[in-house]
Amino acid sequence: MNVRKYITDKVKEIKDTVGAETAVSALSGGVDSSACTMLAARALGPQLKVIFIDDGLMRQGEPEEVRSVFGKLGVAVEIVDARREFFKALKRKADPEKKRKAFREKFYKVFGREVRRSGARFLVQGTIKADIIETRGGVKTQHNILEQIGIDPEKGFGFRVIEPLKDLFKPEVRLVARALGLPARIFGRMPFPGPGLACRVVGAVTPERVEIVRRATVLVEAEFARLKPFQAFAVLLTDRGTGIVSGSRRFGDIIVVRSVDSRDAMTARPTRVPWPVLERLAKRITDELPGVTRVCYELTPKPPATIEYV
Ligand code: XMP
Repeated sequence: MNVRKYITDKVKEIKDTVGAETAVSALSGGVDSSACTMLAARALGPQLKVIFIDDGLMRQGEPEEVRSVFGKLGVAVEIVDARREFFKALKRKADPEKKRKAFREKFYKVFGREVRRSGARFLVQGTIKADIIETRGGVKTQHNILEQIGIDPEKGFGFRVIEPLKDLFKPEVRLVARALGLPARIFGRMPFPGPGLACRVVGAVTPERVEIVRRATVLVEAEFARLKPFQAFAVLLTDRGTGIVSGSRRFGDIIVVRSVDSRDAMTARPTRVPWPVLERLAKRITDELPGVTRVCYELTPKPPATIEYV
């Protein structure tokens, strides 16, 4: 792949499409939306408004970090606090596809509102090839594949969607991100799903349950960093298991640790983790999150399992 040419072509394409209008970019801090935002910023300069929707389902410290990284690159990021709205939309939804649908609808509603407020006619989004293939194949519905699933973004939400990365797989997106000047902690970052930690909370998605996964994820990422997995994270189950906490029995939460090696997320196999790493991680999770009494390590490849739980 000729990365320079790709960037030049896409910058021109975005410029031509948007013309004298303005566009909004949906930045999440992941490599896809970061690369896509930088492409659009190059193409449009001040005609681009960058919005980060804080849905309450992000990793620890994410909104502040994203603002700081992009600020250093001269791109201003507006953070929209929509946490309450998202939790309300997800309330009492346990079925995975219902959760994804609720997330998707809320995302476009909040975004549509922000885009209308800004007067922009275009939404730039970091959809990549794997998202499109999997949605078409019926593996799942991704939140950012409106046209593929038959929703007209203009009719439904009042704006047109531009997806400059839709011909690329993840490794190519990383090359583009690097060439655009993004730092290693963005271009080398693990994929993170659009619906965020809601994909890793089985059952009810409440702020409290999301916080358990968020804190456990910090520990998983720290302990597994040396292994350089494609993705590593924590999942909260609805099942429980008995443990002993401060000398008394507690029917506590179960955390599953999921770590996979993969090239493009289409297939994946569990990371071979040295036993002492797993033991230390389990100890840290139960020590630092007293509500958690059990920690498991997931051994299923994709297929048959997907990478995320929801
Ligand atoms: P699964 O769980 O289907 O995930 O094996 C494959 C890859 O896609 C990520 N993923 C998503 N990315 N929006 C995204 O942008 C989504 O709705 C979404 N769901 C899953 C997942 O983290 C993995 O890398």
